[in-house]
Amino acid sequence: MFKAVLFDLDGVITDTAEYHYQAWRTLAEELGIEGVNRTFNEQLKGVSREDSLRKILSLGKRENDFSVEEFARLTKRKNDNYLQMIQKVSPADVYPGILELLQELKDSGIKISLASASKNGPILLERMALTPYFDFIANPKEVAASKPAPDIFQAAAAGVGVSTDEAIGIEDAQAGISAIKAAGSLPVGVGCKEELGSDIALVPRTDFLTLAYLMEIWEKNKI
Ligand code: BG6
Ligand code: MG
Repeated sequence: MFKAVLFDLDGVITDTAEYHYQAWRTLAEELGIEGVNRTFNEQLKGVSREDSLRKILSLGKRENDFSVEEFARLTKRKNDNYLQMIQKVSPADVYPGILELLQELKDSGIKISLASASKNGPILLERMALTPYFDFIANPKEVAASKPAPDIFQAAAAGVGVSTDEAIGIEDAQAGISAIKAAGSLPVGVGCKEELGSDIALVPRTDFLTLAYLMEIWEKNKI
């Protein structure tokens, strides 16, 4: 039986992946960079703030146009806009089934850990009144490499004293699924096979994520 579930946040616990997209698209428009559409956005999901901006500048062939200070101002501008958008996030924004899953995990003594690349993770958990469910929140500022590297999932598992191969990771992003695989945990994707691949367990929506489902996937994977 698995001993921990390592949760991504944006796009798994709530719809903030959409706000990240809106904020990046606005910044790209301000910079005159075209092509930050939903297809391109799949490459940004799960990726750190700085790496996301690098990808956008590279799309617009503007990667050499900004000094270190200007680059920092751009990431701040995006984040300030994003922070405005998440002012209204409340417990009503928790995706269907997530609260029930967290309660089931807690009742079963399975550790709950956050493996989000977002530096805004703790604020969002507070806003959704979910902080008490989490045994640990991995700090993205303290990991060497961001997703698709395994670091944040390794930190999330270590933080609850569980080996990564005894944990399930839940993700909505390509980079996140790669990170879970690289960490040696069992991935469960929220999304479709076109985006996340056909070699992992997938649910189309979060209300499919029950303890019974995770146990079934875990057992199947052992065979
Ligand atoms: C990830 C999001 O969870 O966090 C990315 O999927 C985002 O879109 C990344 O860029 C970093 O988040 P933040 O809030 O620290 O800018
Ligand atoms: Mg995500």
